[in-house]
Amino acid sequence: MLRYARNDDFGKASSLMALPPNFLDELRARTPLQALIGRSVRLTRSGRESKGCCPFHGEKTPSFYVYDDHFHCFGCGEHGDAITFVMKSQGAGFMEAVESLAAEAGLEVPKASPAEAEREARRASIHEVLQAAAKTYQDWLFAPGGAGALSYLRERGLSEATIKKFGLGWSGEGRGALAAAVARQNIQTDQLIEAGLMKQSEAGRGPVDMFFSRVMFPIQDRRGAITSFSGRILGDGQPKYVNGPETPAFSKRRSLFGVHFAREAVRKGEALIIVEGQMDVIALSQAGFGGAVAPLGTALTEEQLAEIWNLSPEPVICFDADKAGRKAAMRAVDLALAGLAPDRSLRFLRLPDGQDPDSLVRAQGPAGFQAQLGDAAPLSSVLFDMLAEGAIRETPEGRAALRKKLMEIADRITDKSLAGEYRAMLLDRFFAERRSPSGKGGASQRNGGFAGRAPNAAAKPAMRPVRVPIDPASADIERGRILTAILINHPTLLPDVEEAFALIDLPPAYERLRNAFAKFHDSNVTLDSPGLLNHLDESGLMAVAGQVLAMSPLPACAAPAATLAEAANGWWEMFGLMRASRNRLREQRDEQQRSYLENPADPVAVEKLIKLNAALSRAERAERDADG
Ligand code: UTP
Ligand code: MN
Repeated sequence: MLRYARNDDFGKASSLMALPPNFLDELRARTPLQALIGRSVRLTRSGRESKGCCPFHGEKTPSFYVYDDHFHCFGCGEHGDAITFVMKSQGAGFMEAVESLAAEAGLEVPKASPAEAEREARRASIHEVLQAAAKTYQDWLFAPGGAGALSYLRERGLSEATIKKFGLGWSGEGRGALAAAVARQNIQTDQLIEAGLMKQSEAGRGPVDMFFSRVMFPIQDRRGAITSFSGRILGDGQPKYVNGPETPAFSKRRSLFGVHFAREAVRKGEALIIVEGQMDVIALSQAGFGGAVAPLGTALTEEQLAEIWNLSPEPVICFDADKAGRKAAMRAVDLALAGLAPDRSLRFLRLPDGQDPDSLVRAQGPAGFQAQLGDAAPLSSVLFDMLAEGAIRETPEGRAALRKKLMEIADRITDKSLAGEYRAMLLDRFFAERRSPSGKGGASQRNGGFAGRAPNAAAKPAMRPVRVPIDPASADIERGRILTAILINHPTLLPDVEEAFALIDLPPAYERLRNAFAKFHDSNVTLDSPGLLNHLDESGLMAVAGQVLAMSPLPACAAPAATLAEAANGWWEMFGLMRASRNRLREQRDEQQRSYLENPADPVAVEKLIKLNAALSRAERAERDADG
């Protein structure tokens, strides 16, 4: 269950803590998982488990397995228990899922303590107060006193339907008007204070209104209950927006404007878009993009990101195209790194200079925004540019500092295999920059910064066919370079290829690399590329390694992104083409066979012979494939 702790927002995590430890176990035990899932997924039984087509990704052949206590999709990796299934398939929050499963199982969700129950009751009463206030504000917007506010909203392009959908209102002029209006519903001033709508005046002259002369934006939680308000001044003036204070019902860092609508839209397949302001959320919604949410004037928080990832694995960050927006995007990345996983990432939509989503969607219309949305760049392709922005890349010191920064960032990714992929990708970009010394001319830079229009162009390694010179001697030198390059990016192959690799002719500079590989192999258990690069760095061989990787385009099998099988096949194929080395390998095998026959009890000799035989058969197979 640990893994799923990330799925519920932190508010729910505290309710989770309040649940007695055995309760969730009992709930799971009483929930027949196959029957639960079988309601929405057609399952066929095979042995103890059932399988069907995964509801979380489109597929035609079933790779979604349901066991007694958990499900797992071998296609998309989605997995979990009954609670997770309800959360994921219905977009429910943790407590919601627990409550609905408990109701079906005939279990009562225990309330932890009287104090907890009382807090719950207070929250409920605050929601009612806020609901009454929202209704009042809405009425006032359409009353004569709200004419100015209404025409302000109309001028900003909002339709009446949009105004109604978001429940926008007018605060009135203050001076206790709200208290007077809701008094008829038996709501007292102290309740308005508790709900964050009034506060004690500093001069001690009794309570005063928190909001006056402002357009009112209700803030709703994910279930649609109003938790607070944000009020905007009409036209210019400071502060432009005022948010309600923290109350038992409202925590700014946990709230996302628009989440209630976005949740619904995302469930219907729309993109989840994170924007900076509530007017952006509203304008996007009116243009048909219902999946937008915004934090309330602060940087994105961990709690908000947890909630967002709970709704969508790859939300799109679409901040204002100014310095502040760019900084906010970088902070979001910073925050996201620790939680990044194969099924949890970010995309970035970079707006034209000076625009925010509100202005853009009005300038370019829904189609224009849709096009930009489709071009949103994955984190992996913008991360390098973000980190390299402003770095000095001309001097060795500057480059060393940048490389250190890249590696530190990759280290912050908690998911180990993903961290490895990012490390390799960032290094690949780092060296690719060398290749085109005018590093600034990289594809994404041309598009004006970190989230350019050609998302993958710069990040994807050169996937080109191998072109090797015709002259046999220089052909083998080029092949040697490629074999070396494959090993820099895939040192896991070292144990399999060491005998063969030792037999090829290499120029002296590459020879030094080969010696360093052997040393690295001898003294390390984990043979990963970042580790090897570190070792090469310490041995003063980074420049040679860079040359090997960057001198001319490498085949796809040498790219960090290649799978191990692709790298291995590519390596042996290339080796198989090196006639002289291949013959040497055969001679060595024959020799080893003789010495084995002389002393069949020597385990080292046996092992060596097995490895040589394996290497030779791969090389010969590759040679045959190349001939055929
Ligand atoms: P912006 O100033 O970018 O808001 O601030 P915006 O949406 O473009 O505002 P409009 O279009 O002029 O109405 C982004 C967000 O920061 C918060 C608000 O939540 C706003 O939507 N903010 C901004 C405040 O909380 N207080 C402020 O004084 C200004
Ligand atoms: Mn803005």
